[in-house]
Amino acid sequence: MVQDRLPINGRILEIGCGPGSFAENLVGRELTCLDPIPAMLEVAKPRVNKKRLERGDSKVNFVEATAESLPFEDSTFDAICSLFSFRDWYDKPKGLTEALRVLKPGGKIVIVDPAKINRIHGFLGYLYMRIWVGSYARLICKQKEHPWKWLTKTYVHFGTTRDYVRMLKDTGFTEVNSKVIFPGMATIWEGKKP
Ligand SMILES: C[S@@+](CC[C@H](N)C(=O)[O-])C[C@H]1O[C@@H](n2cnc3c(N)ncnc32)[C@H](O)[C@@H]1O
Repeated sequence: MVQDRLPINGRILEIGCGPGSFAENLVGRELTCLDPIPAMLEVAKPRVNKKRLERGDSKVNFVEATAESLPFEDSTFDAICSLFSFRDWYDKPKGLTEALRVLKPGGKIVIVDPAKINRIHGFLGYLYMRIWVGSYARLICKQKEHPWKWLTKTYVHFGTTRDYVRMLKDTGFTEVNSKVIFPGMATIWEGKKP
């Protein structure tokens, strides 16, 4: 769904690329992947570039930085995407302001993260993460203090779909819309730089 929403040509920035699960499957485009954690970039680099070179795509430009301080000139990218990372940005308005700055006029942002439709949906999501994801993670990781605990924590502190529609508009994005993806554990937001 994210790939379909990104322009076919042009420069794309993925903020919070993690180990490259999305980036390795993004066909074509001139891609820059950014993440603040060196260990993530070390995993992503060989994985993403191997897949891209096999397809005949260009190598990715990997950058170590945060969303809140993007080391790029104004109006550099045709589109920006961020998948399951926006939730972790420590200053979301600042990150979105930075995204707007580095986008070219007419450029697009696409964000995916597990949002809540309302409080009841949020509570059901919390139970799902705590009980189902938690038990599964404990089993797989064979430890009580598994890293997925952070997923539940960041989910609990994350807002509703509407909160971030408002935030995108307040930042200056236009044509902002959102769609809850079936079965409701993720939302996809889009906005345009005027
Ligand atoms: C769940 S992973 C993203 C997965 C990735 N999109 C993929 O498809 O593989 C979340 C990533 O967001 C990054 N992150 C956390 N805080 C960030 C920030 N303030 N700015 C940019 N990236 C951040 C983390 O380092 C982590 O690698």
